[in-house]
Amino acid sequence: MNAAKIPLWALLGGVALGPAAVPPVAAAEQQAASATTADMEARLKARGLDPVVVARGRVVFDTHCARCHGAEGAGKVRNWREPDAAGNYPAPPLNDAGYAWNHPTEALLESVHVGSPQGYGIMPQWEKKLSERDMLDVVSYIKSLWSDAAYREWMDIERASQEP
Ligand code: HEC
Repeated sequence: MNAAKIPLWALLGGVALGPAAVPPVAAAEQQAASATTADMEARLKARGLDPVVVARGRVVFDTHCARCHGAEGAGKVRNWREPDAAGNYPAPPLNDAGYAWNHPTEALLESVHVGSPQGYGIMPQWEKKLSERDMLDVVSYIKSLWSDAAYREWMDIERASQEP
């Protein structure tokens, strides 16, 4: 089944992004696509993610983050675990290929707020440039990039992080 490999947001283009984000499809396909969109929305909702929030987060991501983290958070650099000549690590992928899904919401939000730890590294400090809502939206979008398997593991990590 290919359907599971399509990132959840991919079929949500119509939610808030207008026609440009949705490739033209034949009428018959369109019907199938709308069934799939409903399916994808159901999957997002099963994760407690609001499809409209995810679609907004996608816009934030495409505008500010994709240039480093790659389209769909797939990363741009193969050896992202190795620092460059200046000693900086390249931006990691944020999908299943990276470690973001090992980190609870609070840690992801913290990364977006303050950027690279102690200013060493190239991840910008977004709290100076983005609204709180933009930062929450983009974290929701990042969660939509994960597979069901990664998401299930993330849920355990999230739960553990909330234990007193
Ligand atoms: C200039 C390049 C750059 C841009 C633009 C950028 N990042 Fe990053 N990001 C990084 C780097 C590099 C790291 C790894 C931390 C480090 O090396 O200091 C990182 C780390 C992260 C992490 C932590 C990943 C993890 O495994 O937990 C998150 C989350 C993240 N970025 C989200 C974003 C979001 C959201 C945006 C857009 C609002 C964004 N980044 C824009 C370079 C960038």
